Amino acid sequence: MTAISLRHVSKQYGQHPPVLRDVNLDIDEHEFCVFLGPSGCGKSTLLRMIAGLEELSAGELHIGGKRMNETPPAERGAAMVFQSYALFPHMTVFENIGFGLRIGGVAKDEIRRRVTEAARVLQLDALLERKPKELSGGQRQRVAIGRAIVREPKVFLFDEPLSNLDAALRGQTRIEIARLHSRFRQASSVYVTHDQVEAMTLADKIVLLHAGSDAAHAGSIAQIGAPLDLYHRPANRFVAGFIGSPRMNFLPAMVVSVEEDAIDVRLSESGERLVLRGRATPRALSAGDTLTVGIRPEHLLLAADPTGTAPAAIVRSVLLVEQLGETSYVHLDQPGGTPLLAKVPGDCPLRVGDRQPFYLPEASCHAFDATGAALQVRRAAMALA
Ligand SMILES: Nc1ncnc2c1ncn2[C@@H]1O[C@H](COP(=O)(O)OP(=O)(O)OP(=O)(O)O)[C@@H](O)[C@H]1O
Ligand SMILES: [Mg+2]
Repeated sequence: MTAISLRHVSKQYGQHPPVLRDVNLDIDEHEFCVFLGPSGCGKSTLLRMIAGLEELSAGELHIGGKRMNETPPAERGAAMVFQSYALFPHMTVFENIGFGLRIGGVAKDEIRRRVTEAARVLQLDALLERKPKELSGGQRQRVAIGRAIVREPKVFLFDEPLSNLDAALRGQTRIEIARLHSRFRQASSVYVTHDQVEAMTLADKIVLLHAGSDAAHAGSIAQIGAPLDLYHRPANRFVAGFIGSPRMNFLPAMVVSVEEDAIDVRLSESGERLVLRGRATPRALSAGDTLTVGIRPEHLLLAADPTGTAPAAIVRSVLLVEQLGETSYVHLDQPGGTPLLAKVPGDCPLRVGDRQPFYLPEASCHAFDATGAALQVRRAAMALA
């Protein structure tokens, strides 16, 4: 069942250009939905509109099947967890977690029951009498989450809840949030982050918003999908560049000829010819059109895939090797263009100056037309002509 639905939702502050434009989105019961995108793209604004902390400029918001546009925040069945934990410094952990219930007139015994249960789930049992200043950042964030849990909401709303924590604690708290979500069978979670690792690991569904600096697309959704959908089938060049680390290599190219089942392409910088297998749909391409070929660093392989039908390789000189232990990032000379990056196993013996073929596995090559839209090449294999 749909828990949250947004229809033609827009947000505009005064005479400024719209922050969000015609957003349409459904979030299902028990779904973990992540709003992802660069700083300033409108993630928090969208979340705050669901919470009732911002009004919609246009469109409709439904939660649990009911129109919520005019409903006050407290009556929406949603509980929000902020980046700044917003705890009361003079209250104990117990009082902080139970505060909303006390204000809401819930009986003392019931408050004790719910706070004790939340503290057990969040492993805060031993800390209930402490004040926030006696807690670590991770513990404070758990108290903030506890305050949301005791309200037994239908929807959890998280706005960058981990960004004040150090890397190790971020990873640990992320796992706790994922486990909490799986415990609460009924509740949906909406989670804002600019960190693609958080998005990829937590989300059932990612909503990736275009950058606010991109005037043509600002305030609109770049793609909605499961994490691996966005990784394997990015709808456009922005999504392709945003999802995946290190970032996808983009190579400018031109269409040489289009045949029934293949597009012959010349890489503009190196002059190499590639054949994209399959038919480009839905847009027709013709000779002379410009496009961009996209190859992820992890798809430049040191050895050909033995099952591949026509192994294609590009030969490049090594400019720099960054050894990270498990993997190495190899920077490759790209004649006349930005160096390419290959991600290879950490024990690879490549050295600066080596000339090395890099094989392109089938179905791992992306192509984008001049507007940035992904070409839906039926089988995106690539072979050097
Ligand atoms: N009250 C306001 N008046 C005018 N503009 C606003 C207001 N609140 C937010 N904005 C603008 O709306 C845009 C989106 O802001 P929002 O806080 O939703 O971004 P975000 O994606 O959450 O970014 P971040 O990752 O930095 O938190 C920004 O350009 C911001 O300047
Ligand atoms: Mg924000």
